[in-house]
Order: sequence, then structure tokens, then C-alpha cells
Amino acid sequence: MTVKVAPSILSADFSQLGEEVRRVEEGGADWIHLDLMDGHFVPNLTIGPPVVASLRPHTTLPLDAHLMVDHPERLFEPLARAGADLVTIHAEAASHLHRLLEEIRQRGMKAGVALNPATSPRVLDYLWELLDLVLVMTVNPGLGGQSFIPAMLPKIRFIADQIKERGLPVELQVDGGINDKTAPRVIKAGATVLVAGSAIFGSGAGPGLIQAFKLAGSPPEKL
Ligand code: DX5
Ligand code: ZN
Repeated sequence: MTVKVAPSILSADFSQLGEEVRRVEEGGADWIHLDLMDGHFVPNLTIGPPVVASLRPHTTLPLDAHLMVDHPERLFEPLARAGADLVTIHAEAASHLHRLLEEIRQRGMKAGVALNPATSPRVLDYLWELLDLVLVMTVNPGLGGQSFIPAMLPKIRFIADQIKERGLPVELQVDGGINDKTAPRVIKAGATVLVAGSAIFGSGAGPGLIQAFKLAGSPPEKL
């Protein structure tokens, strides 16, 4: 199976976001990953719905909003109006996850749950019918350019098995420290969507890496 690639604009040149998004779209990106941080749930502060709205005309790709914020529900309506396609909230930031996932879908967007490295995948047990995506954080959230945590591989495998056993159309996304070394490992563990920030925007590799990730997930050619 070919993986999807969702470049994270966190490591892009913020003075030229429209152009950066166009570059990765041309390079074969499947989604655009947008990291919204509030300076509370994580110390960093990034973008909000107005920037999402201003990016919307620059790409036809799905806009994948990763909310690293407290009280994520405050952003649902503004994000729907801004043209976000998918909204992922952190399990650690929501006391009423079940209700919030319903609220995302009621606004016509797809719904995802993100799990910090310390969070058990068991939190998903009673949520499956409301999920379009599970995001396994493979670093602690808040910054680009951190190192992949290998202890997350069994968690990815466990969730991939749960999705398979249930026969659900749920994407399994990984985010943090994804590069040419770690991509094949997470794909092997069952990831279906790779988020990469610094490996694509912060290095010489650039959008060419997107195709390399996809090849890493393709079956070997038959002899
Ligand atoms: C980190 C963000 C990521 C970030 C990943 O909290 O959620 O999306 O951009 O950056 P890299 O790929 O550099 O680890
Ligand atoms: Zn992210």
C-alpha cells in the first residue's frame, strides 16, 4: 500500500507559505498538515484559523489541522469556515473527547484524535465509530526537528491491528522525527499517513523526499 504524505508547514518559510504549499503539492503531497499551537497546551505559539483561511486558495489538497491547544472546541467553527478538511484534537486536551469528535463531524469535517507519547492507545476503545484518523505522536508535541521515539513503534502496531480487526476506514498518522531512516520503520508498523516538517522544509532534500517516502511504502516489484 502506498502511504500518504502530509508535509507540516511548521518548518516552512512563514513569509512565503502560499509558495511553500504549492511546492509540496507539485512534489506529490497528499495533504497539508497545519500545526496550531496555543502557548498553553504546548509552550509554542503558531497559527490560527485566519492563516488556514488564507492558505485555502493556494491548494486543492485537504487541509489537515493538528490542534495542540487547550479547549480545542473553540476552534471548530472558525476552522470549518476557514476551509479545514480534517481536525485532530489531543486526547490529553479534552475531557469530553466523544462529544468533541461528534461536534467536528457535525461541522462537515473529518475527525481525528492525537496521542502524546505517554498516552495509552486504550483511550480509543470507545471512540472507534467517531474516528476518521488516529495520530500517534512520535515526539512530544510542540516543536519541529526533534528525534523520533522508537518506543512508539509497538503503539503504532497495536493501533494498526485494532483498525484491521475492526475493518474500519481509519487513517493511522504518525508525526514527529519522520525522515528517510524512520519512514520505512513506521510504514512497516502500519502507518498510513506520514507527517514530516523539518525533513521536507528544513533540509536540502525538499519535496523530493515525498516520493521517497511513497516508494518506501510500495511493495517490492515482482521479479
Ligand atoms: C510537532 C508537530 C509536527 C512537526 C513535526 O509538535 O506536530 O507536525 O512539524 O516536525 P518534524 O517532522 O520536524 O519532527
Ligand atoms: Zn503536527
